Amino acid sequence: MQYGTEMRAELGFPACAEVRTNVACFGAVTINNPNDATRSPIRRYLEELHARLSKLDTGRVATYIPELARANPAAFGVVIATVDGHVYEVGATRQQFTIQSISKPLIYGVALEDRGGERVRQAIGVEPSGDAFNSISLEPGTGRPLNPMINAGAIATSSLVAGATTEARIGRVVDAVSAYAGRPLELDEAVFESERATGHRNRAIGHMLRNYGIVSEDPEPALELYFKQCSILIDCRDLAMIGATLANGGVNPATGARAVRSEFVDQILSVMTTCGMYDFAGEWVYRVGMPAKSGVGGGIVAVLPGQLGIGVFSPALDERGNSVRGVAVCEALSNDLGLHFLHPPRPSVSTVRSRYTLATVRSKRRRPANEVRLLDEHGARVAIYELQGDLRFTTVERVVREIIDSGAALDFAVLDFKRVAHVDGPATRMLAALTQCCAAEGRHLVFTRVRRGDLLASFGAELDPRAADAVSFQPQLDLGLEWCERRLLERYAMRRSEAGLGGLLEHRLCAGVSPADVAHLERIVERREFEPGALIVHRGDPADALYFLVKGDVSVVVELPKGGYKRLSTLTPGMGFGESALIAGGVRSADVRADSAVECYALTATAFGKLERDRPRLMIGLLMNLLRSGNEMSARLTSEVAALEG
Ligand code: DON
Repeated sequence: MQYGTEMRAELGFPACAEVRTNVACFGAVTINNPNDATRSPIRRYLEELHARLSKLDTGRVATYIPELARANPAAFGVVIATVDGHVYEVGATRQQFTIQSISKPLIYGVALEDRGGERVRQAIGVEPSGDAFNSISLEPGTGRPLNPMINAGAIATSSLVAGATTEARIGRVVDAVSAYAGRPLELDEAVFESERATGHRNRAIGHMLRNYGIVSEDPEPALELYFKQCSILIDCRDLAMIGATLANGGVNPATGARAVRSEFVDQILSVMTTCGMYDFAGEWVYRVGMPAKSGVGGGIVAVLPGQLGIGVFSPALDERGNSVRGVAVCEALSNDLGLHFLHPPRPSVSTVRSRYTLATVRSKRRRPANEVRLLDEHGARVAIYELQGDLRFTTVERVVREIIDSGAALDFAVLDFKRVAHVDGPATRMLAALTQCCAAEGRHLVFTRVRRGDLLASFGAELDPRAADAVSFQPQLDLGLEWCERRLLERYAMRRSEAGLGGLLEHRLCAGVSPADVAHLERIVERREFEPGALIVHRGDPADALYFLVKGDVSVVVELPKGGYKRLSTLTPGMGFGESALIAGGVRSADVRADSAVECYALTATAFGKLERDRPRLMIGLLMNLLRSGNEMSARLTSEVAALEG
């Protein structure tokens, strides 16, 4: 049975049957048994929705391809897949069915990759036809199919798939769709044979295209490929993953494999938006608002760019060949979850995860009081922007504007890229232009945690070489802060002497301790020297001594579970480490490494213990100073947390 507007009356369908349901609002999902409460509210919501729309029993399975008439109209599955690979599924989500027209946008991507945009546009338009999927909608004069979503456009698309043989082209098509689904897919030969045997209308379309030279040779091979691609077996979970792959810029969130080049994703989603639901496209965008594609096998895939993919399977179709329950599910999800693509999240607000300055947040390098005072005074001249998500014109604009507008008040701006997923061309160019502005004003940008080769790949090419000195890259945000601190201290003529301390009398842990007690201390401590890079204290070793650092820098670091190290702090002369040895004993909680040639004095726990009897005032003096430096540290951490949460 042929679908098309003229069939409406014959099948007794009211004009444009409105399929609406009053779906329970997201929050009002009823909880039957207490265990439900712990389950994901999204999962519960989907179950409710599925149960509610299962009652929708209008529509009929496709029969014009005889093999499709065997479908079970009651089958019903709903899946949501997010761009970070999480899947919510309810109902018949593993039941296989043929992809049918949902293959069309995916193969359009294959043709764009194989022939390039211009060649494909020569053969196929991008205008919605407003007609049924099997209408012979060709452009007057040129015979060009109006768009790649109607059968005429899809057959022309199949004719553009590259490959020396039909087998090679079929392999190319099946591999491409498998990459979207994230698993190897197979063909339903019975459906293929059934369509090939009854596909007279498509064959007529094929010959029309041959007649206009859109298909340059005998259309049979293109038709065969088209029937094959429509016969690829998928399930509802695959459908959602196909949607999530398109939402994720062409990369399958589960496998990480690229299914289509990123530059073609917008084109694919554009034709899905304007033409994917045929003569229902306008209504669809109005009521659902997501690029989508339906198939007469009973599937509908919908895409929320950058966020998720939806897959619905229910073979009972409406008069336009769209799954009745599929349309209802997508409409409900869009309304209940606010998924309409013309209702995007306000990007600029969320791009800056946190902004603070060196006045409140510092590097892990602990500094002597005079440097701390100077950074307290001038720290606001260094602003840090922790960025997140996709950087594009609309999202980076606010950051660029703020740095530009801050004028002479800002010497350095640190942009952290750890949570940035993607930087597009326009955003890269804006950052290069911002660097040039900073160069002109003697200001400096520091980019931290940029995944080289992935982010900002074209930054170097966009940057005016004369501005290159106005930007630097640091592998860690912490190192970026330290780099700015050093520059700020230099800028305000705070030169740090590398000579170190003359002795323990100048050491902060001996502040307020009598010279006699310090002299006693100097007699009982052990002088130790370490080469740059040497391990002074090893995590897990017994905590047996307090160290007085008198020359060089040391860093307290911990090894990360996924490899690499995290710097907890860097200490400079006049500071101490290993104090836990004196107080709690136990084992070392972190490594301490010499960053340069180091000289320090070690006071063993044993020697310290004896002070209680021999020099109680010295012991109290040391403990008080340790307490004081501990307090300073926690005060600093508290203000940093407040600033980061600000
Ligand atoms: O060409 C046909 O008619 C089928 N292979 C595909 C049609 C289809 O899926 C229409 N979609 N709603």
